[in-house]
Amino acid sequence: MFFHISKAIQGVAFFLTSLLAIQAWAAPDAIAGKAKAQVCSACHGENGISTVAGTPHLAAQPPLSIFYQLLQFRDQRRKGGSMEAIAATLSEQDMRDIAEHYSAQTPPSPLAGGDATKISQGQKIAQQQYCSSCHGAQLQGQKHVPRLSGQSTEYFVTQLRNLRSGARADMDGTMASAARSLTDEEIEAMATYARSLP
Ligand code: HEC
Ligand code: HEC
Repeated sequence: MFFHISKAIQGVAFFLTSLLAIQAWAAPDAIAGKAKAQVCSACHGENGISTVAGTPHLAAQPPLSIFYQLLQFRDQRRKGGSMEAIAATLSEQDMRDIAEHYSAQTPPSPLAGGDATKISQGQKIAQQQYCSSCHGAQLQGQKHVPRLSGQSTEYFVTQLRNLRSGARADMDGTMASAARSLTDEEIEAMATYARSLP
């Protein structure tokens, strides 16, 4: 009996310590983040709009999404583009500051004149497959779910294929199951649709 109580108290104490640890973080600082993001701009662009193929835009992405992706790279659960090595040099405060900076940047401009058939096919699939229930009505992202609107089609296609095959592990398995039944043609259509959104 005593054993159980002391275990329970230990548990509560651990919980409280974790809470305190969370509160010990300073509020994310976008100005500090801008300075810390200098090293990122070579690939992700000065204002988070990348001009390098295969490198995602970070502008206007939800801060939690950027933060969680950086944690995943740091912990080697996600790999690619040397991001594991880069994320390993950042503290969690750096990650939060940088995320705050990029999330406040102007989103990528929508691509006008994309293939209209693919766009409407992509829109239909996004509704049927409930992509917008997580990624937002305009696929603008929310909380830990990344923004898809305006993202480069090449990046979108590669990532969605990797999530489908499991080559890219996702944090909770929800995205892998959302991608499982998609064909290459559907992925292409959704990428074109997302690229056309503001
Ligand atoms: C050498 C080029 C390069 C540099 C420098 C770089 N990145 Fe990246 N980053 C990439 C590439 C390429 C990817 C895509 C990786 C993949 O294929 O999965 C990526 C992916 C990301 C992602 C995932 C975004 C998403 O929507 O999935 C985040 C977040 C990120 N980088 C943040 C940063 C930050 C913050 C820095 C600076 C501290 C930085 N990167 C520096 C090339 C770079
Ligand atoms: C249950 C919620 C949910 C649903 C439904 C969902 N997604 Fe996702 N999606 C996520 C999360 C969370 C991530 C981040 C994955 C991770 O690293 O854990 C993600 C990541 C992605 C990425 C990679 C973006 C990037 O910047 O790295 C693409 C592309 C994507 N989703 C497309 C889609 C499409 C298309 C659909 C509909 C077929 C869809 N998603 C449905 C939650 C969802």
